[in-house]
Amino acid sequence: MAAPPRALVAKLIAVGGLLSLISFLYLYSGVPFRSRLLSSLFPSGASHSGPGSTCTPEAWADGRWNPKANYAPLTSPNTTLRAPEDVFDFNGLQGCAADREFKWHLGVDHEEQFDRFPGMTSWEWTPAKSCKGVRQLESEAFVRDLVEQGGWLVLGDSISENHFFSLSCTLFPHVRATPNYTENPYFDRAWPQNLYLNPSSPLVSTLKLPLNFSVEHTPLVTFRRVDLLLNRDELEALHRRKHPELYTDPEHPFQLFSEEQFWSLSPAEYMPLLTGQLPASRYGTLIVATAGHWTTTLLGGLRNEAAGEDAGGQTPVQRALEVDQREQARRVMAARLGGRGPETVDVVKRRVVVRAYLPGHEDCRNQHAPWQQWKPYQWKWYNWPWIGEMNGIFQKLLSGAAYPDVHYLPIDRPALLRPDAHASGDCLHIVTGTGVIEGWTQYIWHYVTRELA
Ligand SMILES: *[C@@H]1O[C@H](CO)[C@@H](O)[C@H](O)[C@H]1NC(C)=O
Ligand SMILES: *[C@@H]1O[C@H](CO)[C@@H](O)[C@H](O)[C@H]1NC(C)=O
Ligand SMILES: *[C@@H]1O[C@H](CO)[C@@H](O)[C@H](O)[C@H]1NC(C)=O
Repeated sequence: MAAPPRALVAKLIAVGGLLSLISFLYLYSGVPFRSRLLSSLFPSGASHSGPGSTCTPEAWADGRWNPKANYAPLTSPNTTLRAPEDVFDFNGLQGCAADREFKWHLGVDHEEQFDRFPGMTSWEWTPAKSCKGVRQLESEAFVRDLVEQGGWLVLGDSISENHFFSLSCTLFPHVRATPNYTENPYFDRAWPQNLYLNPSSPLVSTLKLPLNFSVEHTPLVTFRRVDLLLNRDELEALHRRKHPELYTDPEHPFQLFSEEQFWSLSPAEYMPLLTGQLPASRYGTLIVATAGHWTTTLLGGLRNEAAGEDAGGQTPVQRALEVDQREQARRVMAARLGGRGPETVDVVKRRVVVRAYLPGHEDCRNQHAPWQQWKPYQWKWYNWPWIGEMNGIFQKLLSGAAYPDVHYLPIDRPALLRPDAHASGDCLHIVTGTGVIEGWTQYIWHYVTRELA
C-alpha cells in the first residue's frame, strides 16, 4: 500500500517547523542559552543526559503494563461504574480542575461503555529494570517544582490538550483552571488554557514564591493549540522557497492548504510566551508534540492520488535536512550575535522537550487490555503508519550536541501498547486516568527535575 503521496515534502516542512522552533528558542531565550550558543553550534559530542542520570527515556519506555497491585475495584464487590462522577473511585484521581469536555476526557461520556471500567484503569506501567529512581508522581512535590523551578508550557494538538486536562487532575486540588467552559461554552480552540495555584490549597503557605510571582496571574501550566509548529503564512513561504517551480503560473497559484481546519501559531508568538517575565509568566519547560495534522488532507496541495509514494527516499530526506540545518544554524548565529535578547533578572533554566508523537490504534473498540508487543497497522488510517518515521526525523535532528536545551523524548511506547485506553468516540485520543498520559507527566517531570538537574 502506498504512503500518502509526496509525504516526503510534508516531512521536509515538518522539519522546517522544528528547526524554526529551535532557532526561535535561541533568539528569544535569556542568558543561560546565550553563553552556550557558540559551543552549541560547533558540536563537541557532549551527551544530553547529565551525570546524575538514573532513568533514561529509553529505559522508561522499555517496560510493560502490569496489573495494579491491590487495586480495590477489582477486589471489592462493587466493581461496576454506575455514574460518571464515580469515575474517581476507579482512576485514583481526586478530581480535575479543567471542565472542558470533562466526561469525554475521563472516558465516561458513553454509558454503554461504562463496562470498560475497572479494566481500563487497572494497569500500571513498570519501566525496564535499568530505570532506577524515577520519581513517583506526587502532586505536592510537582506543584512545588512548577512554582519554584518554572511552569510548563504545553504546545500541540488535541493530544496535547488531553495532556493539559490530565495535568489538571494530577494537580487537583492545588490548581484552578481557566477558562471556565461552563460559563463560556462558546469556546474557541485557540483560547489559551491555564492552571493557576489554587489560593485555597493548603500548599500555598508552604511554597517559596519567587519575587513577583502572582498566585492569581502566574500560570503553572498553559496549553496552546499549535498543530503545525509554524503558522500558515510561514509554511506557505517555506514551501514556496523549496519549490519555486510550482509558483510560476499566476493564473493558477499553487494551493498548499486544503479547506481543512487547523490551529497553529508562529514561533514568533509562542517562543516569547516561553521566555515571558513575571508576573505574567515564568515557564521553565516547553513541551511540544505534533504530527497528527501533518497530513495530505490538510496540506492538500501535496496530495497526489495517482502516484504511489516512494516510501524509501531516506537519503534525499537526510541530505535536505542537513542542508536545512546548517542554513538555519548560520541564520540563528548571525541574528543572535547581532541582536539583543531580553535580559532575565530572575534566571529560570529553560528547555524544550519534544515528546514523541502518538498515532492511534485501529479497531480499538475490540481491544480490552494492554498489548505486550506493538502490532503493525493493517488498514493505514490517516497518517498513523508514518508517525514513527516523523518522530525519527525529530529524534535524528536532536540527537547530536547541537541543541543542548532541546530534548527529544522517545516515550511513546507505553501508549502504543494501550489500544484499550482510547476515548469512547475515537481511536486516537487517550482517556485521563488510564496511566498513559499520567506516565508522560511523571516521566517528563522526572526528566526535567532529575535527569537534567
Ligand atoms: C465501593 O463501595 C465502597 C463503600 O460504599 C466505597 O467506599 C468505594 O468507593 C466503592 N468503590 C468503587 C470502586 O465504587
Ligand atoms: C465554573 O462555573 C460554574 C458556573 O458559574 C461554577 O459552578 C463552577 O464551579 C466553575 N468551575 C470551576 C472549576 O471553577
Ligand atoms: C519585579 O518587578 C519589579 C517591578 O515591576 C521589577 O523592577 C523587578 O525587576 C522584578 N523582579 C523580578 C525578579 O522579576
